[in-house]
Amino acid sequence: MFSAVEAAPPVKVFQLTADFKACTGPNKVNLGVGAYQTNDGKPYILKVVREAEQRIASDFSLNHEYLPIDGLPAFTDASTAVMFGKEHPIVVNRKYIAVQSLGGTGALKVCCEFMSQCLGRTVAYVSKPTWPNHNSVLKMSGIKDVREYRYWDPNTKAVDFAGMVEDLEGVPKDAVVVLHAVAHNPTGMDLNEQQWNQILDIVIKRNATIVMDTAYQGFGSGDLDKDGTSVRMLADKGVEFFVCQSMSKNFGLYNERVGNMIAVINSPDKIEAVRSQLKRIVRATWSNPPSHGARVVATVLNDETLAQQWRLELLEMAQRIKDMRQLLFEKLQTHEITWPHVINQTGMFSFTGLTQAQVKFLRDEYDIFLMDDGRVNMCAFTTDNTQYIADAIAAAVKKF
Ligand SMILES: Cc1ncc(COP(=O)(O)O)c(C=O)c1O
Repeated sequence: MFSAVEAAPPVKVFQLTADFKACTGPNKVNLGVGAYQTNDGKPYILKVVREAEQRIASDFSLNHEYLPIDGLPAFTDASTAVMFGKEHPIVVNRKYIAVQSLGGTGALKVCCEFMSQCLGRTVAYVSKPTWPNHNSVLKMSGIKDVREYRYWDPNTKAVDFAGMVEDLEGVPKDAVVVLHAVAHNPTGMDLNEQQWNQILDIVIKRNATIVMDTAYQGFGSGDLDKDGTSVRMLADKGVEFFVCQSMSKNFGLYNERVGNMIAVINSPDKIEAVRSQLKRIVRATWSNPPSHGARVVATVLNDETLAQQWRLELLEMAQRIKDMRQLLFEKLQTHEITWPHVINQTGMFSFTGLTQAQVKFLRDEYDIFLMDDGRVNMCAFTTDNTQYIADAIAAAVKKF
C-alpha cells in the first residue's frame, strides 16, 4: 500500500531543533525556532497564564464537553478587541465574525479554505521572503498559484519599498495578498506608518483580498495597540478583509494552539451566511477547537487586572529582546563589524544577512544552529552567550 510514497522534505526549523538536541557541544546554541526564552535560555510561562490556569483548575463549573464549532465566544470576542481596540466601530458594531482556530496556522487554514471555496480565489501574493508555511497552507487549501512581491533588499538589508509598491501595483484583480501586520517573519523589518498607508491604498485599489497575518502583536514595540496599527489603519479605511491572529507567542501558549480568524464584514445581511460557511469548513477540519488555551486567554483578557499584568509582561519580553539586539550590536562592533539592521529590526527575528556558507561554518565550528537564510531568533540570545555568538559571527564574516 505504501510502496509509492516518497518522503516529504523535513520542515527545516524542526529539523534544526532535532539536530541541536543531538549535538553534545557544551556551548551549543539554538537560534532557530521562534519561541521566547528567558535570559537563562529557558522557556517562559507567563505569570498571568499560571494565574489563569490556577483559576481554571479550581473552577468546578467548567467541564470537558465539546466547545461550539466556532469556539469560545469569551475568547474570540476578547481577542478581536485586542486586535482592533475595544472602542473600535468594528468591535462595537460587531462588524465581524471570529472563529477560534488551532493557532495562527489554523486561522490561515480556515481563511484560505474559505477564500478558495467560497470566494473562488486561486492566486495569492506573499512577501519575498515569507514564513514558508504561507505557501503550503495556501496551496493545500486550493489557492495553488502563489506568487511573490518584493520585500527585502539584501544589499541595503532593509525593505525594498519601491519593489514592493511596483509588484503590488501589478497584482491582478481578486488576488489574495498576505501582509505581515507586525514584526515581519523572517526579516524583522516593518513598514512605517506612511508606507503602510501607501501599501494599503494600493491593495485596496487593486481590489485585492487582504489577509493580515498577525502572529507577533506585542513583540514589535512591546505595546499591543502600537503593534495593531497596520490592522487598525486598514480597518479605518472601511474595507472588508481577514485577520489571522495567533496567541502562541504573545501568551507563550505555543503548544496549546490558540488562534483567532476574523472576517471583517460590511453587509450585516451577510454575517450569518459567512459564519455558516466558516463553521462548515471548521466542522470538516477539526470539528471544534480545544478549550484550554482559549480559556486561559479569555480568563486573562476578561479580567482588567490580569489584562493589565499581561501587557506589562509583554513589554518586559519585548524589552529583553531589544536589549539583546543592542548587546549583539555592541559585541559585533568590538570586532569592527557594524550591523545597524540588528537594532533597526523588530520582533523576535533578525535577518542577519549571513550567507549559507557562514551559517554552515557557525554550525560546524561553533555548534550555533540557525536557519540557512541567516534568520536568527533574538530571544535565544542571553547576556551569557551573546559574546560567544558575536565572536563566532566575526570569525564567519572574516573567513568568507
Ligand atoms: C508569520 C507567521 N504567521 C503565522 C504563524 C503561526 O503561528 P502558530 O504557531 O500560532 O500557528 C507564525 C508562527 O511562527 C508566523 O511566524
